[in-house]
Amino acid sequence: MKLERALSSRRSPPHPADDEGDGSPFDDESKTKKHASLAARIVSLIRLSRSSSGHCPAAHVIIVILLLLLATFSVLLLSPRRSVLCVSPYDAATRNALVGADLVGLASDFGSLGVPWCRSKHDTTVEWTPKDLLKGLEEFVPIYETRPIKNNMYGMGFDHSFGLWFMARWLKPDLMIESGTFKGHSTWVLRQAMPGTHIISLSPRHPEKYLKKGPAYVDENCTYFAGKDFVDFGRVGWGSVMRKHGISDLSRVLVFFDDHQNQLKRVKQALQAGFRNLIFEDNYDTGTGDHYSLRQICDQYYIRGGGHSCFRDSDEARIRMKRKKFWEKAVDIDELCGKGGAWWGVRGFMRDNFNHSNNAMSYKEHFQNSRILESVLDVYWELPPVAGPSLTHQTRYDPARTLQPIVEDGRFGLFQRLGLTRLEASLFNGYTQMVYVQVSVSTS
Ligand SMILES: C[S@@+](CC[C@H](N)C(=O)[O-])C[C@H]1O[C@@H](n2cnc3c(N)ncnc32)[C@H](O)[C@@H]1O
Repeated sequence: MKLERALSSRRSPPHPADDEGDGSPFDDESKTKKHASLAARIVSLIRLSRSSSGHCPAAHVIIVILLLLLATFSVLLLSPRRSVLCVSPYDAATRNALVGADLVGLASDFGSLGVPWCRSKHDTTVEWTPKDLLKGLEEFVPIYETRPIKNNMYGMGFDHSFGLWFMARWLKPDLMIESGTFKGHSTWVLRQAMPGTHIISLSPRHPEKYLKKGPAYVDENCTYFAGKDFVDFGRVGWGSVMRKHGISDLSRVLVFFDDHQNQLKRVKQALQAGFRNLIFEDNYDTGTGDHYSLRQICDQYYIRGGGHSCFRDSDEARIRMKRKKFWEKAVDIDELCGKGGAWWGVRGFMRDNFNHSNNAMSYKEHFQNSRILESVLDVYWELPPVAGPSLTHQTRYDPARTLQPIVEDGRFGLFQRLGLTRLEASLFNGYTQMVYVQVSVSTS
């Protein structure tokens, strides 16, 4: 059974193996070739000037200066990729053109500030590989292009739509539950992954309400706990709902949360109901977001890639300050740490319900939460970004806090072959570390 097969021995983080050259306009080699041929032309002109000016050094120097000026102007005026200074610092071209020597490599240093990774009980992970993700991308792009809701601002963008589709299709659940429907885009994604499987969708507002104003998706094989029938996930009598739908094995159910609630609360509620396979859309990084996320909970000093230094003179503080200028969601030490460095990351609050109901907690409780989470985790797997920022021109997530993307920076040919150049840049701006977890109450 697929859901059970998702457990396998630990694999290394994704590194796509495709290494064909692509000759793209972003390809460094082609840039070098262009400059080399210009240099070659200058050298040959200098040689020519030498032979034509005989042994007169003054004439020789003047000709060389004129040629160099000509070359400089031609590079400035003819270069198709020169940067324009009046655009946002978040613009990829500006970022690449303006970074100082100590910031070179900003776009590509994935994970350099740490990628906190929740520890699972038996060190098991998913069975899909980077190659499977690449194959999935190839298949998903044309499907995504047929989506009914083209403008899904405040809902999922491309990266997470792909992640949800890929995982649902791989896990092949007998029933899918989603909490947080909005206009119905994620319902549509689930439907593309599993055409014949029943969906239960919970949201305070029914997606049909959005149909009055524009595109929305209402599924025919879906039970909506929405609008006047809305019930919060934690209050549904899941036992009787599952019986009604003929589900006896709850490990064959996939639950997708995109409802901006405290994720620890959701994990506890899911466990209580007996669900094991959960996907969280917004697994916000430390210092960002409007709810307490699994990643924030696991961002502890004893976890690889986790923990922070609150010293303002530290390397972390210096690097974070610089990165904040380039990535909208990068956070500096002042945002991470409370006054006097007493707190970091969640500033003493367990955020919940779109930041509307936040509960104060002690540092000890925050630490304890990571231990509680670890004690129920069988698998923790973060979806990598679909492609690097030089390809997607995304401006939001900071690569220093994420895994290597599925299509690595600079692989323009592959990006193009997958059809990703056909998608608007804004569709790549919503990556927030979507995570798949498998949970169970420990018996050992
Ligand atoms: C970010 S949107 C969901 C986007 C959607 N999944 C998509 O892909 O387009 C969050 C949704 O959660 C809904 N919501 C708010 N509180 C909720 C709750 N307690 N349970 C379920 N949904 C909730 C909001 O009304 C909103 O429709």
